[in-house]
Amino acid sequence: MKPPIVIAVDGTSASGKSTTSKHLAKLLGFVYVDTGAMYRTLGWYCLKHQIDVNAERTVANTCRRWNTTLECADGQVHLLVDGVNPGRELRTSEVSTATSRIAANAKVREWMKRRQRECLQFGSLVMEGRDIGTNVFPETDFKYFLDAHLEERARRRAAEGVHENLAARDQQDSQRAAAPLMIALGAKVINNSGMTIPATCDIIIADLRQKGAAVELRPAAS
Ligand code: DC
Repeated sequence: MKPPIVIAVDGTSASGKSTTSKHLAKLLGFVYVDTGAMYRTLGWYCLKHQIDVNAERTVANTCRRWNTTLECADGQVHLLVDGVNPGRELRTSEVSTATSRIAANAKVREWMKRRQRECLQFGSLVMEGRDIGTNVFPETDFKYFLDAHLEERARRRAAEGVHENLAARDQQDSQRAAAPLMIALGAKVINNSGMTIPATCDIIIADLRQKGAAVELRPAAS
């Protein structure tokens, strides 16, 4: 059996990471991991249990103790908490704001990194986030950084019914001390403004092949 490989997809908020990564994972028959959803699950959990997201030690302790499991269903990994997947509840602007705070916590990031690396048990991965190429799987040769113009990103979020200050969140994600959002060394940067999802996937697949990855399109998806 071929050893599993990791495709790291990082980028700014609403840069199309999720849609692109999901589509790419389907095309290649890889497992999709949304690491933002893992961070959001902790943000959601803190709000639900009235834990102050700015209290670093309390949040770090919470994350050491909460009852979680990784589940792979329909080609996607979910972080369950007390056996539950919070689903759409992770997408509110309150959870986004809380999550950006807890994502700056170095202890939380250590915990998340361990959990995210455990996802390899499910096979080859398309993993999206902010620090996958720089911090979680720095050893992978397959790193991509997605971006798009701010106005287009704001339009995409608004189309999902979410209005938030993307520039402020990107600034917070880029300026934190712990694993800030940045372009990994050797990452291919793709500005996908005005580009379709399949077109972005085509660029990634061509690059994977050029780098020698043995990837094949799944018959149903080609
Ligand atoms: O991608 P998203 O909007 O669902 O991410 C939610 C928050 O988590 C966002 O503030 C960035 C942060 N995050 C992170 O710091 N590192 C990751 N690997 C994924 C998300």
